[in-house]
Amino acid sequence: MARILVAYVSKKGSTAEIAHAIGKELQVAGHLVDVTEMKSVLSLEGYNSVVIGGPFYMGSIMADVGKFIARYEVALKKVPVAAFAVGLAPLGKDPAERDNAMKKLQKTLEPLTPVAMTIFAGRLDLTKLSWFQKWITEKVKSPVGDFRDWTAIAAWARELPAKMGV
Ligand SMILES: Cc1cc2nc3c(=O)[nH]c(=O)nc-3n(C[C@H](O)[C@H](O)[C@H](O)COP(=O)(O)O)c2cc1C
Repeated sequence: MARILVAYVSKKGSTAEIAHAIGKELQVAGHLVDVTEMKSVLSLEGYNSVVIGGPFYMGSIMADVGKFIARYEVALKKVPVAAFAVGLAPLGKDPAERDNAMKKLQKTLEPLTPVAMTIFAGRLDLTKLSWFQKWITEKVKSPVGDFRDWTAIAAWARELPAKMGV
């Protein structure tokens, strides 16, 4: 049994729910899991592995992810790390858009060598957006709805312990 931290950042809640779903799968696999907002993490002491997750906004992964990695770089280099990003890029028809998003995720994680890395489709709920965010998403014709694939999310999480060697 390992102690695993799932550290996430989320503006509108969809990444938080994905982080909790991943945590649940890891718990079911018999591990001790904390699912915590990155900003509230005070130490990585005692964790055998860490899962990091954050959403894309305006072409970049939320800055909290890079800040979290910079802050805990030394500790994160000592344990297996997995990472996921959340966005609408996976829904795009253009493979270049998806490749670009993956490159951005890789770049954000650069100081680390993650054992697993993926981008999940997220949720765009117009009722949760500011007028400016609504305007932006209408301008770029973003798909609206909840595109989270809970089966794929659970399957990814179930593979983590073996990849992490825990
Ligand atoms: C203003 C705005 C900008 C966004 N920009 C991107 C983007 O550049 N790339 C992307 O893949 N998704 C983008 N998205 C989609 C979000 O990543 C998606 O809604 C995600 O599920 C939000 O996560 P959260 O609910 O945890 O905040 C954007 C959404 C909004 C509202």
